[in-house]
Amino acid sequence: MRLVLLGPPGAGKGTQAQFLTARLNIPKISTGDMLRDSAESGAALGLEAKRYTDQGNLAPDDMILEMVEERLQQPDAGKGYLLDGFPRTVYQAERFREWLDARGEALDAVVDLLVSDDEIVSRISMRRVCHGCHETYHEVSRPARIADLCDQCGHKLSLRDDDVAELVRARLKIYHDRTEPVLHYYRGQGLLIELDGRRPVAEVTDSILDALAQREGRQR
Ligand code: AP5
Repeated sequence: MRLVLLGPPGAGKGTQAQFLTARLNIPKISTGDMLRDSAESGAALGLEAKRYTDQGNLAPDDMILEMVEERLQQPDAGKGYLLDGFPRTVYQAERFREWLDARGEALDAVVDLLVSDDEIVSRISMRRVCHGCHETYHEVSRPARIADLCDQCGHKLSLRDDDVAELVRARLKIYHDRTEPVLHYYRGQGLLIELDGRRPVAEVTDSILDALAQREGRQR
């Protein structure tokens, strides 16, 4: 299955991707995680991208496309994948479609998680992330078992560099201006599934899996 997971910053894409990839047995490919890993390793691409992400801006389209296309050619992506946070511009979506067409492949669905801006700002202010394994926590709804330490790998948890309030507002504006048109693009292709992302995490996961199963049933 080839899936795209979209939604505003803090909508729960990363959280849902962890559960969905385990259930669907496909790898999660998160452009945000890839950029952060690259910057932390000191690689030129990551450091260049950080100039944009630190301001809450999108990284350049061609940089992202090159990075994703390279990643999708790795063997584990042969059985399908879940793209978390890509494509984020209509240009990325159009180039990606050309890339898939050239391989005789297609997306199965694009899931959009709907969450209001106010809920986003509140969620992100309480998010803590593990820079070791990317596990995501929330101080109230998903606290770590031992305060400030990752349940999975024991690394220290911290705020993300771009999770300060003014950058969250900037990222939301960019989402409305540049990524919402991507939703229209996929709606026009009959691929878009829009779901309420405000419900508890497990209910959101179930609603995504149900919607995918229904869609698969209709296509048979
Ligand atoms: P990226 O890492 O993709 O950030 P984002 O899209 O802003 O999304 P987030 O990771 O902030 O949120 P999320 O939706 O994953 O929510 P989460 O599950 O953590 O990208 C970072 C930057 O990289 C971008 O700003 C851009 O600069 C650049 N970039 C990335 N991709 C790019 C691209 N394609 N093109 C150009 N530039 C790109 O959840 C948030 C919090 O809420 C957590 O604390 C979680 O525990 C909690 N939570 C989750 N679900 C629920 C729920 N149902 N109820 C209550 N709490 C919940």
